[in-house]
Order: sequence, then structure tokens, then C-alpha cells
Amino acid sequence: CELGHIYSCANIGIIGGSGFDDPNLFENPIERDITTPFGKPSDVLLEGSIKGVSCVLLARHGRKHQYQPSDVNYRANIWALKSLGCTHILATTATGSLVEQYRPGDLVVLDDFIDRTWGRQCTFYDRTEGGPRGVCHLPMRPAFCEKARQALLSAARGRGHVCHATGTAVTKQGPRFSSRAESLMHRQWGGHVVNMTTVPEVALAKEAGLSYAAVALVTDYDCWRENEQSVSVSEVLEMFARNIKKAIDVIVDAVQILAADSDYSYLDCHKDLVTSAIMLKN
Ligand code: ADE
Repeated sequence: CELGHIYSCANIGIIGGSGFDDPNLFENPIERDITTPFGKPSDVLLEGSIKGVSCVLLARHGRKHQYQPSDVNYRANIWALKSLGCTHILATTATGSLVEQYRPGDLVVLDDFIDRTWGRQCTFYDRTEGGPRGVCHLPMRPAFCEKARQALLSAARGRGHVCHATGTAVTKQGPRFSSRAESLMHRQWGGHVVNMTTVPEVALAKEAGLSYAAVALVTDYDCWRENEQSVSVSEVLEMFARNIKKAIDVIVDAVQILAADSDYSYLDCHKDLVTSAIMLKN
């Protein structure tokens, strides 16, 4: 990372997963209806501030939960947040646990993923009019921004919540949950949690040069355990509702931690990585 740094303050995008739609999160919110070269985001974006820090909130599935995971316009969501000046994105996601130690109610700051999705638009570099030029081969190690991850982890630990410092998310296509054989396979692959939205969101945020991290809320044990029923929507929603306050507190505190930083040179590194990943012929 050779460039002198150009960022002096943080503007933090928040992507709320299922159940994360607290309208009281923001001071003085303004609705922004945005169209991007990649289409419309899931809903209007709410621009406002949390304890004085500029933030933008977006409901991943739409405020009425109208988009299933494979129909979310991830590209428009990330592009819209970036176009409103976001430097960071903090995301929440409901997940099933694939390991005994990650219990329902726990938090996990994701550090890796396994992509089990198909047919989703997973790059901005596809010659869409108004989009960027070239072909982008972006490294995915590390997948998430370590600075943003540490902010989420400190926030969670500061609040006294059980929070696992690392976790690999297996992101499946959905909308159905896994079969038992799939769940056992995801465990063998080294997955810690399973969800339906981390891919392509994390990769697109990285292509956009943003600092992105996600806090997963464990809602269930999927369906790999002996003598236990499979996960259900009611179980996921009930656990999410019971624990959503934790996720909100963590995001609120992580926003303050990121904004208190005096050195944003890591943001330049994210941008430089993208520049070095683009193949462009004149
Ligand atoms: N989201 C919450 N629980 C899940 C599970 N078991 N599988 C996929 N996505 C989930």
C-alpha cells in the first residue's frame, strides 16, 4: 500500500439482515431512493447518524422482507451504499450453527466463507453500462476487513456477549434449508455456520474497495444433530427476535470504535488491492 491516505473520517453503511429493522437506530434519518447502474437496491436507504457518526442503513431483504436471498440485488445494495459515501459496511446475518460450541444466541464475527450459491451476480466488472471497466480477479484471503472485524469483536466483548472471534460461513443458495446429508457435508468442509447471504455481499464490498465485516447471530443448529428436529423459520425468527438487541448494540458500539480511529490507511490498501486485481486492455 503505497499511496498516502485520503480518508479522514468514516461513513458507515449498515446492512441489516432478517429481523434487523430498528427504525429508532438513527438520529434524524433521511430516506434516499437510489438507482444504480445495476438496478435498484432492496429498499430506500436511511441516511443519518449514530451518536454523531454518519451512517447509512439498508434492509438487505427490503423493509417488508420482500426479497428472498437469491433475489436480493447485492450489487445495487453495495453500489448504493458506496455512492452515498460509505467507507465501511457492517452487516448482520442470521445463521445456523454447524458446530456444537457455537450455540444459538451466540455471536460470530465471520472471517471466511464457502460459496454454495449459484447464478448470483457476483462482480461489478461485467461490462454493465455505467459500471467499471476491465475484468477483476480479486484475492479472497482475507475475505473480510480485519479492522472492521476487530471493531465488531471488541464491541461484542465489551458488552459481555458470547462472541466467537472467527467463523467460516457456508453460504447456500436457499431458499430451502439444508438436507441432513448437506449439513453433515458442510461440517466436514470446516464450516462453522450456514446462511444464505454472505456471498456475494462480502466479495462485492471488497470489489468496491470498502471495509466490510459481518456479525452472525446463531439462531439454530441447522439439522445435523442426532435426534433433533430440523431448523424452521419460526425457530430462526424467534431466536433472532430474542437476540436482536445484542446485534444492534454491537453495531452501535462498533460504529463508534471505527469512527474513533485516527488512521484510515487500511482503506487505501483495500482500494489498491482492487486496482491491482483489474485486467484492462486498451
Ligand atoms: N439462517 C438461519 N439459520 C439458517 C440455517 N440453518 N441454514 C441456512 N440459513 C440460515
